Order: sequence, then C-alpha cells, then structure tokens
Amino acid sequence: MTQDEMKLAVAQAAVAHIQGKLGKDSIVGVGTGSTANFFIDELAKIKHLFDGAVASSEATAERLKGHGINVYDMNAVDQMEVYVDGADEFDSRMNLVKGGGGALTREKIVAAVAKEFVCIVDASKQVDLLGAFRCRLK
Ligand code: A5P
Repeated sequence: MTQDEMKLAVAQAAVAHIQGKLGKDSIVGVGTGSTANFFIDELAKIKHLFDGAVASSEATAERLKGHGINVYDMNAVDQMEVYVDGADEFDSRMNLVKGGGGALTREKIVAAVAKEFVCIVDASKQVDLLGAFRCRLK
C-alpha cells in the first residue's frame, strides 16, 4: 500500500467512525494537511448528514467550500461533535506531535472545542521516540 492509499484508508475509517454521531445540526472540525485533505474529500460524500464544518486553516476552508460544505467561523459555533486531523508523529503510547504544517495554533483551538478528537495517521508516522520530525525540518 502506498502512503496515499494509507491516508485514504484512515480518512475513510474516520468517516465511518463519525458518521453515526452526526445529525443535521452537527458541526465537524477539520484539520490541516495532506491526510486531512483525504478526509475532506471523503467527508464530502456524507455532507447531507451534517450542517457544516469549522476549518483549522484557510487551505482547509477552501477545500471544504470547494465540495459545497458550509464553513463556519469558530466564534459562530456552540458545539462541535468531533475534530478530525492528522499528525506528524505518534509513538506506541499514542502520544502525538502535530504542527508541521504550520497551522497548530488554530488546530489546537478547534480541537479544544470539539467533544472528540479523532487523529488520523498512517503507519509511516510511527516513531520510537517523538521528535524525529523536528530534526528532519532542520
Ligand atoms: C498541520 O499544522 C499539521 O498539524 C498536520 O496536521 C500534520 O503535519 C499532518 O500533516 P500530513 O497529513 O500532511 O502529514
């Protein structure tokens, strides 16, 4: 399986996971990055099941709008059922490193509002010791 196939698989799993939790008034928080993009494309297939989304970046907002999904400002939303986003690394204890895409502050704010944070990562993101990603950036 290629990495893109894995990203698609985790995106589809996330949609399957959240689908039953959504109602016509539900708002979905959506993260940023290449894995989140796969999720957005899958989420669009069930857009009739929920009201709209809050985006953690302008890039995410544009992709959501491109699919005809309503995008709300965080300040206009009372409740958020779930927030779905990728991560840069995870370890065997499910600790995460995020923020490599530069949208971390907004991601943290949206995630904090959501009832549930669903993190979607493919196997290539697993490390023994968190921090390798940061080293690769230097
Ligand atoms: C964005 O700021 C990041 O937190 C991303 O969510 C994270 O880097 C994962 O991105 P990819 O799915 O592109 O690897």
